[in-house]
Amino acid sequence: MIANWKMHKTSREAVDFIARIAPAAAAARCLVIIAPAFPSLAAVAAAVQGSAETSAHGLAVAGQNLHWEAEGAFTGEVSGPMLADAGCGYVIIGHSERRQYFGETDETVHRKVRAALAAKLTPIVCVGETQAQRDENETEIVLRYQFERAFWGMEEADFRSCVLAYEPVWAIGTGKVATPDIAEGTQRFLRHCARNVFGSEASESLTILYGGSVTPANVRGLLEQPDVDGALVGSASLDPTSFAAMIRAC
Ligand code: PGA
Repeated sequence: MIANWKMHKTSREAVDFIARIAPAAAAARCLVIIAPAFPSLAAVAAAVQGSAETSAHGLAVAGQNLHWEAEGAFTGEVSGPMLADAGCGYVIIGHSERRQYFGETDETVHRKVRAALAAKLTPIVCVGETQAQRDENETEIVLRYQFERAFWGMEEADFRSCVLAYEPVWAIGTGKVATPDIAEGTQRFLRHCARNVFGSEASESLTILYGGSVTPANVRGLLEQPDVDGALVGSASLDPTSFAAMIRAC
């Protein structure tokens, strides 16, 4: 269960939030990942320290983006080693807002996935179609292309260290959630794409999250689907009561 805070919350607000969801996270049988803005990373990492993080439960921290180089003259950018140093174990890559507003392409997504793995961060790779693409019946073509470009030339062992997030662009920040059937059908297709490239074992163990207008009211129906392994939550993750309710549902 991932809280993607986007450009919200100061360090103080972030730490206060962690204190308020800590009981729900401690009782949860899922891994809870907080993705704050860069300036709050260290404070959030300190606040979650000591929560027994394993791949199955506990609290962990993610960056919302990274640069593909480890260091260099890239004003305003943050690298994988810097995120790891700040306490991140994960990083979100290729979110549609990055693609839409900041010129991210399938090629930069691919380079960032490699950079994340090199820094021992788990990449959370976002793919998703627009409303126009869905209307034109292009969803599978678009998703297959994004998937194959993101993981191009990758060894199976590296792929097993990645997480995939299906984030239909038409559902992000719109209040228009995918129905459980749409999420399941599309995520089953993504698992099929993974099987074609990396084989059945890697595809079966792949974690595929759903993201786009997830709320306490709809999260349960989504998570009940066999190919929906978790949720990446934006606006409904900003309120601790609402996020705690989603952790409990998970
Ligand atoms: P939303 O954002 O929950 O506000 O739709 C989801 C996302 O951007 O991952």
